[in-house]
Amino acid sequence: MRKKIIAANWKMNMTVAETEGYLENFRTHVEPVNGVEIVIAPPFTAIAKLSELLGGSQKISLGAQNMSSEMSGAFTGEISPTMLRELFVRFVILGHSERRLIFGETDEVVNKKVHTALACGLRPIVCVGETLEERDGGREKEVLETQLRGSLAGVTPEQMLGIVIAYEPVWAIGTGRNATPEQAQDAHAHVRAVLASLTDEATAAKVRIQYGGSVKPANAATLLSQPDIDGALVGGASLEPIAFSEIVKAAVSK
Ligand code: PGA
Repeated sequence: MRKKIIAANWKMNMTVAETEGYLENFRTHVEPVNGVEIVIAPPFTAIAKLSELLGGSQKISLGAQNMSSEMSGAFTGEISPTMLRELFVRFVILGHSERRLIFGETDEVVNKKVHTALACGLRPIVCVGETLEERDGGREKEVLETQLRGSLAGVTPEQMLGIVIAYEPVWAIGTGRNATPEQAQDAHAHVRAVLASLTDEATAAKVRIQYGGSVKPANAATLLSQPDIDGALVGGASLEPIAFSEIVKAAVSK
């Protein structure tokens, strides 16, 4: 049984001052919730504050939205995995489509980051997903396979168990247009099959695959009840504590 994992990707939103009120509100709403892993990935500037407020919480884990593939040195503007570990960050989102499309991150770069994260004890949330053009051209499965093979090259079955995959169709991100539960399930089953070919069936059956792209309280339960959807990576709706808590609640016993 794969434990559902619901992650907030705040992107370039939320100041340190806003973080405190958010967490207080969110915590009261998820207080009674059990059996769901919750991750919040704030911008780098709010990580220290959130870390202090969470105080090693078992219920809510801290995540980062990106990191350098290098440990230290002359890399102006970058943040290293050891800096994240110092602040008790447990998860790191890697290869988000905004990183790939706006900042030119290739599968090779993502792969390097995956290995560095694993070596530092961080759990990568590796994002994959096709653009609208690729889906319209009937190429989504091929694109997913290429991204998975490239981003996860050299990952052992044991390491794979520490990785979360996020399937995020680019055309569904921030557009209000989510993939239908059937489209998402179909893609997730394909992702799992590729993971099996990279490792083995038993390992692939244990890896959690999140869906991301316009997840909201209204569509979360149906998406999360699909057999291969093991969680959600939530952007816009995660900025509102009550909406995000409702998505977390929708994951209970799905
Ligand atoms: P969205 O973003 O929920 O705003 O569509 C999801 C993501 O980019 O992770």
